[in-house]
Amino acid sequence: MVRALVHRARAAPRGDGPERPSPSPLLLRGEPLVPRVLVIHGPNLNLLGRREPGVYGRSTLAEIDRALAQLGRDLALEVESVQHNGEGAIVDAIQGAEGRCAGIVINPAGYTHTSVAIRDALAAVGELGVPAVEVHLSQPSAREPFRQVSLVAPVCRGSVAGFGAVGYLLALRGLATLLGGGAAAART
Ligand code: DQA
Repeated sequence: MVRALVHRARAAPRGDGPERPSPSPLLLRGEPLVPRVLVIHGPNLNLLGRREPGVYGRSTLAEIDRALAQLGRDLALEVESVQHNGEGAIVDAIQGAEGRCAGIVINPAGYTHTSVAIRDALAAVGELGVPAVEVHLSQPSAREPFRQVSLVAPVCRGSVAGFGAVGYLLALRGLATLLGGGAAAART
């Protein structure tokens, strides 16, 4: 069974002082249009917090997603997080980002080292204007030889590894910079 966890956070209005209506609000179906980032967590990451904590830390996926949502609000990004254990579901999520999301943060977990299909999907949407940043909690290049190859790294715009749960926040900041939010990403 494919299990998907979805968490969304909309960007909160920012402002100093009383709220004023924006002079020319850009609306999509009545909602403010802010760039949406898709965060994809791969197989077994639903077990974070209990899974090999000496390697992956004690943060749960829900805690990571909450921190991403908070940072998203600071960066004026909408963050949508999903977790899938299946390769096909991850390919579907990547393809589904086209036209809906400005970029992707992905931890393909074990598929990092094996999945041509996920690599091809990232390459395809990358060429269609949806850049991706790869993230790993651990430092795979310092682990077993089979983890030392990433099939997705060459088709991602950047990679973050070895910083535990904080790596997701670094990856989101990096993606925000790529998307043109450099000043906001640096300020916060
Ligand atoms: C991982 C590293 C992978 O080698 C492993 O299969 C994972 C998690 C990481 O975040 O460190 O499941 O992607």
